[in-house]
Amino acid sequence: MLKNILHYAHYLLEQTLKPGEITIDATCGNGNDTLYLAELVGKDGKVLAFDIQEQAIHTTKKRLNEAGINHVTLIQESHEYVDRFLGESEQIGAAIFNLGYLPRSDKTIITESKSTIPAVEKILTKLRHEGLLVLVVYHGHKGGKEEKDALLQYVTQLDQKKYHVLQYQFINQKNNPPFLLAIEKLTD
Ligand SMILES: C[S@@+](CC[C@H](N)C(=O)[O-])C[C@H]1O[C@@H](n2cnc3c(N)ncnc32)[C@H](O)[C@@H]1O
Repeated sequence: MLKNILHYAHYLLEQTLKPGEITIDATCGNGNDTLYLAELVGKDGKVLAFDIQEQAIHTTKKRLNEAGINHVTLIQESHEYVDRFLGESEQIGAAIFNLGYLPRSDKTIITESKSTIPAVEKILTKLRHEGLLVLVVYHGHKGGKEEKDALLQYVTQLDQKKYHVLQYQFINQKNNPPFLLAIEKLTD
C-alpha cells in the first residue's frame, strides 16, 4: 500500500503538474523521469532536462525520439546554471532531481552538494505557487553522505512560512536506502 520512493516521486509530480507547464528534470540520466514529465505536461508544455554526461543526453534523446516526443530541451550542462535557460517571467510547475551516479555507468561521476544546492536554490525562486521540487536522495555511494548531510542541513532551514518540506523514508531498510525530499512552495 505504501508507495516506494520512485512511485511516490511520480505520484507527487502527477498531483502537481498541469498540462502546458514548464518542468525540469535536473538529472536526466537514462531519461525515465524526463519521459514521465513530458507526458504529464503534454505537447503544449516544456521540459528542460539537464545532465553533464554525453551518454545520458544521448540515451535520453534516443528514448524521446522513439516515443515521438519533441517538447523536451536536452541540456548537457550542470543544473546549477538552470537560470540561463529560463526566461525572466517563466515559472516552473515542478522539478525533480535523482541524486547519485548514472546506473550501470561511471560511479565516480556523481551529483555533489556544491552544485546541487545552488540548483535547488535557483529552481525554488522560479517555482509557481504550490509548485513542487522533488529530490530522490541516493547516498550509499562514495561521496553520497556528504551531499545528503549538506542537503538536509539546507532544506531544514527553509522558512516554514514559504515552504513545506517533506522527508519520505522507509526507516527499517538496510544498506542506506534512498529517501525522498519534497519542497512545496507556499508563496508566488
Ligand atoms: C541517479 S542518476 C539519474 C537517473 C535518472 N533520473 C534516470 O531516470 O535514469 C544521476 C545523474 O546526475 C548526473 N549529474 C551529476 N552531476 C550533475 C550536475 N551537476 N548537473 C546535471 N546532472 C548531473 C549524472 O551524470 C547522472 O546521470
